Amino acid sequence: MNESERPATYWPDSEAEVPMGPVERVIYASRSEVRGPVLEEMRRIRDHAVVHNRRHGLRVALLNMNGWFVQWIEGPQEGVDELLARVSGDERHHGLLVIHRSKGRPRLFRPWIGSIVQSGESDRQVHLRVRAQYERHTRGETCEPSVAWLKLCAPPAPDMPRPLGRSPRAMLLSAQGAQAFGLLEWLVVKEQRLLVRRRFAGGAEDAPDVESDYVDLPASGPRGLRLVANARKGLAMGMTHAFLPDCAAVVLLLDGSVGRNQRLVERVLTACRQTHHSPLIVGLGGPDQVSTELKELVERQGMPWAEAVAPGSAHGPAELWATLEPVLAQLD
Ligand SMILES: Cc1cc2nc3c(=O)[nH]c(=O)nc-3n(C[C@H](O)[C@H](O)[C@H](O)COP(=O)(O)O)c2cc1C
Repeated sequence: MNESERPATYWPDSEAEVPMGPVERVIYASRSEVRGPVLEEMRRIRDHAVVHNRRHGLRVALLNMNGWFVQWIEGPQEGVDELLARVSGDERHHGLLVIHRSKGRPRLFRPWIGSIVQSGESDRQVHLRVRAQYERHTRGETCEPSVAWLKLCAPPAPDMPRPLGRSPRAMLLSAQGAQAFGLLEWLVVKEQRLLVRRRFAGGAEDAPDVESDYVDLPASGPRGLRLVANARKGLAMGMTHAFLPDCAAVVLLLDGSVGRNQRLVERVLTACRQTHHSPLIVGLGGPDQVSTELKELVERQGMPWAEAVAPGSAHGPAELWATLEPVLAQLD
């Protein structure tokens, strides 16, 4: 197992093969009754869930967000319904509403993915979105579970273009340090946008939280753009895997070290193989960083590659963004 495949937190993990045939996919939202430390309770739920879920071919993502639980369940229909019935009677939450049900390709690749997010929103804002999503579901509107999940847990900024459909998402990762987050922070100030910070709680004291921030850019491309900065270690997380198939592009902010750039490309290719997804891989950096070797590495896996080469040798955020934006504005 190389570094990119090692779980970033001690939420138990499984490398079990996931069937690619259609599975039942259900998402519900409920109000948490957990009054003490949420992480402790999530661990207790997890300890039970990993044993039960694996035995029944079920995979779940459980999010605790501002006093709500949102759970995404995938697997054979009988198993999913049996779990729903059992979980409905659990006193650690109430008011369970199914907001999505569909049959389709599996999106979760682990028997358990846990996350805790404090979004700073009011309970009412979350409640309104739960109701809206529940109504869409009961009207028979269909979508991918990741779309329903994002509408509920990470909705688009109110000024994002709507009539043309969903905005493309691009993931931004840096080969070195937290430069992807730095670029996003610079962009947020320049464009006067809201930076949404998400911290996904690690399961142990020695497993730090993993941050994933995003900004919605309504003026980038015809449908706007959501740019998501991820930590490199986040690439191995189940939550990142679940949403990778929704990313039209993965942007790699390269640096002066050939080895670091190569390791980053390899981590991304591993995650793409695991999720059976081929986003556009964009190499971003100076002329000596965006190399033919990286392009060949990507293309050897049958993935599309694009280059955003900033001229000259000084590559501050302004030069990087001026180079990158035209590439991202063309994403569908
Ligand atoms: C929000 C939430 C999510 C849960 N998710 C699971 C799960 O994915 N798998 C599971 O086996 N139990 C899960 N549980 C725990 C079950 O509700 C139940 O407590 C556990 O399966 C024990 O059931 P039993 O006493 O009938 O054996 C969850 C509980 C809560 C509150």
